[in-house]
Amino acid sequence: MPEHMSNNQWEKILKSFPPRREYLLQAFHKLQESEENQYISEEMIEHIARYFKLTKGEVFGTLSYYTLFSTKPRKSIIVQVCNSPLCHAMDKKKWISQLLQLQDKEIHIEETACLGHCEKGPVIAVNGQIISLQEFTSVQEIIKKIKSTVHGK
Ligand code: FES
Repeated sequence: MPEHMSNNQWEKILKSFPPRREYLLQAFHKLQESEENQYISEEMIEHIARYFKLTKGEVFGTLSYYTLFSTKPRKSIIVQVCNSPLCHAMDKKKWISQLLQLQDKEIHIEETACLGHCEKGPVIAVNGQIISLQEFTSVQEIIKKIKSTVHGK
């Protein structure tokens, strides 16, 4: 698992990208996935802004536009629950509201816009891996699948 990074590690990651705006999203991805708590901190935003010669507001604005990025620390298993109308129109949509209320010490639940797999809906992404909720008969089964996807059991 990634650890909390130092300023030098952030700088090293940033320098792996040309300091041009079109590389901003790639830098966000790399920084976020390299950070232990899988988020982009206020301090990181300052480094990003300096490197790309943008204001902190511009960086934060871009960051907060995309639901795949977080500015708050997250748990080790990130479950993004599609909350777009199409997934809500599907059979088994009850799993969405039940998952959104889930309290688990390992699992971070967050809502997201369309994950691009509407035909399998409703869907979730577990650390980026898409899982259709169609096949499940209980939330417990879904939680078991989430954990086995990450831990391989
Ligand atoms: S609406 Fe849910 S994946 Fe597209």
